[in-house]
Amino acid sequence: MSTSGTPTTTTDAGIAAPSDEHSQSIGPNGPLLLQDHYLIQKMAHFNRERVPERVVHAKGGGAYGTLEITEDVGQYTKAKLFQKGAQTKSLVRFSTVAGELGSPDSNRDPRGFAMKFYTEDGNYDLVGNNTPIFFIRDPQKFSDFIHSQKRRADTNLRDNNMQWDFWTGSPESAHQVSLLMTDRGTPSSWRHMNGYGSHTFLWYNAAGEKFWVKYHFKTDQGIKNFTDAEADEWKGKDSDVHMRDLQDAIRRGDNPSWTVQVQVMPFEEAADYRFNPFDLTKVWPHGDYPPITIGKWTLHTNPENYFAEIEQAAFEPANLVPGIGASPDKMLQGRLFSYPDTHRYRIGPNYLQLPVNSPIAEVHSYNKDGAMAYRNSPDPVYAPNTMGGPVADPELWKGDSYEVAGEIVRSAYILHKDDDDYGQPRALWEKVLSDTDREHMVTNIVGHASSPEVTAEMKPRVVEYWRNVHKDLGDRVAKGLGINGS
Ligand code: NDP
Ligand code: HEM
Repeated sequence: MSTSGTPTTTTDAGIAAPSDEHSQSIGPNGPLLLQDHYLIQKMAHFNRERVPERVVHAKGGGAYGTLEITEDVGQYTKAKLFQKGAQTKSLVRFSTVAGELGSPDSNRDPRGFAMKFYTEDGNYDLVGNNTPIFFIRDPQKFSDFIHSQKRRADTNLRDNNMQWDFWTGSPESAHQVSLLMTDRGTPSSWRHMNGYGSHTFLWYNAAGEKFWVKYHFKTDQGIKNFTDAEADEWKGKDSDVHMRDLQDAIRRGDNPSWTVQVQVMPFEEAADYRFNPFDLTKVWPHGDYPPITIGKWTLHTNPENYFAEIEQAAFEPANLVPGIGASPDKMLQGRLFSYPDTHRYRIGPNYLQLPVNSPIAEVHSYNKDGAMAYRNSPDPVYAPNTMGGPVADPELWKGDSYEVAGEIVRSAYILHKDDDDYGQPRALWEKVLSDTDREHMVTNIVGHASSPEVTAEMKPRVVEYWRNVHKDLGDRVAKGLGINGS
């Protein structure tokens, strides 16, 4: 304690600091000394304050909450966090996809909706978006897709022509681009949007019976979106509008919540379902598999230190606990590798030892050492051993398996009866959107495709893309872009 009653400044080694203001010099006006270790520590540490930003979803914010399961779904999964009455602490990080760390929250983009559940069986991560689908269905195309949404090599500017070039060349994107071009592409806050697990996952119960599931987190605040003009205005007024809104709401006790629903498909029905149930560009229509409410998820606590708890948070779709497994969705399969790999690069090999990523379950792992290891495995450091070290229990994972056979190929999915790229976005346009929604969708597309970099050659491709979804939509886009013909 200093004489003033406040704590004494120290070095990071806990040694009392010599001064908050003055470097050590030879005389008041003379040069500085290399022996001023305190100055050197401050400057050197400052130079290392940033870790690389996430390669996608760089701008985001989050909070802690609780998942409470109110219905009995033990017949579908033995996962402890989904048993009736279970309450599980969780962390969420919401984000935009394409922009960098300082980019505006109100950009037109899908929103990341990444959740970590700290369960007694280890961390369960559900790393979804505010849309139930995605732009592509094979991870081979992910880096190309993202490059088209980010910056050009020559000018370092974003370029809508590049975006339309990728989208029109990838017709499987039509469903997700449709949702993106409705006003749901510019939510008014993170509290006013739904979240989706998006992929299909495997659930299995204590008897080893299997089901396919999709998760829906429906906002209890109601869906609210910005119009394109409002979203543009917020870019200038407050680029952190969504981060601020969430923090303020939680601070005043207005805790946002979501009703948690699942669609459940018996395992055997996947083979003959009219859509490929593992294709991430498709939903399961509610009429086929009605969503079942299973609980509530509420956010109630702001982080105390954004860098430690949000910037260093590491979500990974591979974190699946007993009772939950992966599906053959090719995108999910790709993501199982991608996230832990990027965490090792972005944060370091021991990222799971940071408090925000550390499970509440005890860790008994044979992994050891590496940069910044402090919770290191004790002896024995190998398995098998005769020294009483941890032993795996395959019984816990009984049910997490299914038969697959086939030739090794590079191929598109085999089409199911109703599979095509345009049917589901057409249903959205025809049956779901109101007249106002349709009008805004057309204006949003026309605005986006009218930016100066979109070439005269690209515009007819854009029109054709939308005519494939629906003739009326394509014609209205053509009119907006000043292109004749049908
Ligand atoms: P339904 O009429 O049963 O459901 C349509 C769903 O669309 C709604 O429940 C709502 O889901 C969502 N929705 C409502 N308004 C909008 C909007 N303005 N923009 C985007 N989505 C909206 O029909 P189907 O289940 O047969 O689906 C028809 C189409 O609806 C699909 O092809 C897809 O494009 C879209 N959709 C379907 C979802 C699904 O999981 N089945 C989910 C979202 C969209 P929610 O409250 O979950 O947003
Ligand atoms: C973040 C890869 C598809 C949702 C990321 C990151 C990578 C990545 C490398 C950065 C992670 C970090 O640095 O912490 C991929 C690949 C994909 C894919 C390779 C496809 C093959 C998807 C899909 C969704 C999604 C389909 C949603 C359904 C997210 C979210 C984040 C993220 C929400 C941010 C997580 C956070 O807040 O920390 N993705 N992604 N991604 N991705 Fe993906």
